[in-house]
Amino acid sequence: MDAQTKQDWMTIRRDNTTSALERAYEESLTGFTVASREGKRITLKEGNTFTEFVSCSYLGLEAHPALIEAAHQALGTTGLHLSSSRSAMRPVYLPQLESLLSEIYKGCGVSVFTSTTSVHLGVLPLLGSNSLKGYPIRKRAHWLMDKTAHASMQVLRGIFQQFGEVTRVQSTDPESMSSALKKCAERQETPILLIDGIGSMSGLVPIAQLSRQLEAVGGYLYVDDAHGISITGCHGSGYAFAALDNQLPHNMILAGSLSKGFGGAGGFVVVKDPQDIPSIQTLANPLVFGHSIMVPILAANVAAAKIHLSDEIESLQKRLWANVRQFDSLTHNRLLNAGVQSPVRGAFFETEEGGLQACRILRNNGILMFPVFYPIIAKGKAMLRFAFSAGHTETDIRQLTDSLGEVTSAGLWTAHTSTA
Ligand SMILES: Cc1ncc(COP(=O)(O)O)c(C=O)c1O
Repeated sequence: MDAQTKQDWMTIRRDNTTSALERAYEESLTGFTVASREGKRITLKEGNTFTEFVSCSYLGLEAHPALIEAAHQALGTTGLHLSSSRSAMRPVYLPQLESLLSEIYKGCGVSVFTSTTSVHLGVLPLLGSNSLKGYPIRKRAHWLMDKTAHASMQVLRGIFQQFGEVTRVQSTDPESMSSALKKCAERQETPILLIDGIGSMSGLVPIAQLSRQLEAVGGYLYVDDAHGISITGCHGSGYAFAALDNQLPHNMILAGSLSKGFGGAGGFVVVKDPQDIPSIQTLANPLVFGHSIMVPILAANVAAAKIHLSDEIESLQKRLWANVRQFDSLTHNRLLNAGVQSPVRGAFFETEEGGLQACRILRNNGILMFPVFYPIIAKGKAMLRFAFSAGHTETDIRQLTDSLGEVTSAGLWTAHTSTA
């Protein structure tokens, strides 16, 4: 097919999407409208209260009194919004937050964005165009897009192609990586591998090993660790940074989220040399042409960063992992990701109807989770995604495992057997 007849990605996605998600919406098996919340208990607009395993706020910090108080105070002094790009005017909390994050990341340069997607959109064109002094590009960039990299990077393919070829790779497969790296070496192109740290749906990636592999050929590793931030590592620096012994290698850039485990909202980038930060802040598209995080949320992010720099973060991390271990043990490691240092577990179903039926059983038992279908997973299948939190109690975990027992007894679920 030539470029004119080749289908665009959105048409392919639309044509392959079934009615499963729509049915789940109609039956209120997802897309829940939350009227109020107390910890992991949410009350929907219809009035019923459920225990949720949906939220990615893995430490429960979004309801922490220090964050709420900080947001209230900021609202009183500055209002909701400065409605301006950071280059014109910024709330006092923005440089405070960046300085605290730089402390968490051992003096590396940090810049805050409104989202992780904006980090990708802002930083990767700078990297590809040889605009970051700490990450020089030889002849031309060559993007190696891991098959499991988050959709927020995959969707930027057309933008990346303005700076160099994009090759899809499977970074955990040595053959796939070595043939891609060989191609880059032959053309004297600089490889840039784009991967997730902890995947939103799947497992972990061997960060340190990949960083060394790329370093050996003068390449770069760009890690989106949105789900890994806060839940592990010293001061909640996250899965990827901890896997590197809290030292960002010279050839790595880290993209993080403030909207998941961190407790607030937004995204951030970590670069080895703080001298690259002025280029990012004067050139990155979403920073130059977009507003910064809303003021109360920014103040809450500052309060969350202070908690990360205190002992409290460790006790929250411990509670999270105790819950995850309890769940794995009660389910005999039968779910996707069992035994893996991820707060997400998945139950796979061979058919969408099987997944929907399981959702109905769980909902009847007072449990809400996130059912996913194509394009998040393979066409025709379903997966129930469970996100765990430090805020869940032992009783919550038992309620979930008992309900999964019912799903199994109904003959709906043949469990994935973990190799972990
Ligand atoms: C791995 C990963 N990266 C990026 C994003 C997008 O985050 P944001 O909403 O901050 O753009 C998500 C969303 O959940 C994600 O899971």
